[in-house]
Amino acid sequence: MKQHLTVVTHPLVQHKLTIMREKATSTAVFRQLLREISQLLAYEVTYELEMTTRRIDTPLQEMDAPVLAGRKLALISILRAGNGLLDGMLELIPSARVGFVGLYRDEKTLKPVQYYYKVPEHLDERMVIVVDPMLATGNSSAAAIDLLKQSGAKHIRFLCLLAAPEGVARMKEAHPDVPIVTAALDERLNEHGYIVPGLGDAGDRMYGTK
Ligand code: URA
Repeated sequence: MKQHLTVVTHPLVQHKLTIMREKATSTAVFRQLLREISQLLAYEVTYELEMTTRRIDTPLQEMDAPVLAGRKLALISILRAGNGLLDGMLELIPSARVGFVGLYRDEKTLKPVQYYYKVPEHLDERMVIVVDPMLATGNSSAAAIDLLKQSGAKHIRFLCLLAAPEGVARMKEAHPDVPIVTAALDERLNEHGYIVPGLGDAGDRMYGTK
């Protein structure tokens, strides 16, 4: 991907996102739309997967048909909201390998601290797609990608639903080699670190917590 930021402007993505933003939208509908939108975004973020060919027999004749090359890709969910994007993507890419990164923010230093980390092996040979619905400050995303690079990941992409300009700038500074795919670039972060206009707390909205 040449661009650092790709905003997926497809009408279906934009329509579903609008319903997700609305505060009256129920948990069940939010979750279903997130599943659907994640598949449309997955289409965009996997566009450059490497291909090869395999000799197959159709009912009429043999042909060299295109298939994915190399190792299975790795989907890495940043807990907990990343799991909402992950679920839909796994329906589309059922053989993907899956990893999880859990980070919390230290109250004193405000820096992300790791509490869980489990990722597939051979990350250096896979396309690695990191998923988190909200790219807000970008601190946890940048920290998660630091960890993945330490584990050998080289071909990384970041997929989110909404991005704030602050988060995009932070990622560009920390990981200029990691393209970002999102459904929308919103106005800004508010004083509480929420994306505005945004959709609220993505984890709360998908799991029905407060
Ligand atoms: N995380 C969320 O869930 N929502 C925001 O607006 C920002 C970060």
